[in-house]
Amino acid sequence: MRFDRPLPKCAVSVTVPVFLRPNFSFFALPMSDPYFQQLFAQRIGGSSYGKGTEIYKFEKIKRAKRKALAEHPERALVDFGIGENDEMAADSVRQVMAEQINRPENRGYADNGIAAFKEAAARFMAREFGVKLDPATEINHCIGSKTALAMLPAVFIDPGDITLMTTPGYPVAGTHTKYYGGEVYRLPLTAEHDFLPDLDSIPADIRRRAKLLVINYPNSPTGKVATREFYARVVEFARQHEIVVVQDAAHIMLSYDQRPLSFLEVPGAREVGVEVHSLSKGWNMIGWRLGWVCGNERIVRAFADVKDNCDSGQFIAVQKAAAAALDDPEIPRCTREKYHRRLKKLVAMLTRCGFRCRMPGGTYFLYVPSPRGVAGGPTFDSAEAASQYLITEHSICTVPWDDAGAFLRLSTTYEADDEAAEDALMAEAERRLTKIHLVF
Ligand SMILES: Cc1ncc(COP(=O)(O)O)c(C=O)c1O
Repeated sequence: MRFDRPLPKCAVSVTVPVFLRPNFSFFALPMSDPYFQQLFAQRIGGSSYGKGTEIYKFEKIKRAKRKALAEHPERALVDFGIGENDEMAADSVRQVMAEQINRPENRGYADNGIAAFKEAAARFMAREFGVKLDPATEINHCIGSKTALAMLPAVFIDPGDITLMTTPGYPVAGTHTKYYGGEVYRLPLTAEHDFLPDLDSIPADIRRRAKLLVINYPNSPTGKVATREFYARVVEFARQHEIVVVQDAAHIMLSYDQRPLSFLEVPGAREVGVEVHSLSKGWNMIGWRLGWVCGNERIVRAFADVKDNCDSGQFIAVQKAAAAALDDPEIPRCTREKYHRRLKKLVAMLTRCGFRCRMPGGTYFLYVPSPRGVAGGPTFDSAEAASQYLITEHSICTVPWDDAGAFLRLSTTYEADDEAAEDALMAEAERRLTKIHLVF
């Protein structure tokens, strides 16, 4: 008989009339829920998926921007919130793309990547860092570094394993660690510790269970660049505790006070981990979706095996255009020069407005202690409160970080056609900020 067997998860709402339903919470789901509401995996919230009322940071910023524009259409937004390059890829790169897109030999699956791209990445690593890599075995492309950071936990994390991650930071590897039943142990980046993780503070039981250490230098959002000494300490730590290092080098070509430094330059690094690179930031190729994982041969191979089960590679024309980009040192040099110039202007302007800030070592972000309030006005109990105030009341957009102290991130990726436009934007921001009398 039909109900002798346990009911399939979806059967009741389909077969039992409403007035016969007993009062189990299962039956209490709103009628509008599809049968698969019960089927969502726990990792994304289970049956509560899509029902939360929490609004995420970037959505709050978007809403506040909309409100500011609606209430003050006369006041242009001073937007330091955008985290994406404001320019197109170089003409020369787009030219290669335009040619390659018409070639029939580029039409198919690229699988784990074409040799020409890996060879260009190897030439780049040798030219910029003196790091010699075998393109066939020690480099593999990825569809943007985000995807690599999402896949690397699949290589190492089993339920109960730990990924050590710096915070604030790019959360993707941590999210996927949790998807695999692992845990994230957060290493705060504080000004007191020079925005480097305090590896000695990690408790012994955490070190024992840790399999991955994910670091990111130049660091987003703090702008800190790593030193050779720090990387040497990371290698020593990884060896001692048998932990694999993933260094996220997405912003590496935006290094200002020293030449870009690769983790793989440090002796022993290749034995303990990999570095993940991206064409996005340094080459204005955010939307093109290309990067690479390089370093330890066996880890690169394992990554390629996982990747092969996730995607079929980036369009070959994109890989060929990116190879041309990697062979042109002028492209990242120009990008670096532009954001360096903009950051200097921003630091000078904010300093005049009372902010405590100095030039970051890298990235296009400036990370500054958040104001605590306004003289004779509101006080802010978090960076988020300060950021919301600046957007809604003054149409100045910033991104708050409250993960390790209250900080605002200001990006220099705003749109400005030339230096005069940059200066005009700085002048407008200064005019608004000096009127507010922020308290720090
Ligand atoms: C620190 C960091 N890592 C990785 C990424 C991902 O970059 P992409 O996937 O464009 O290579 C970003 C993007 O914002 C980032 O800020």
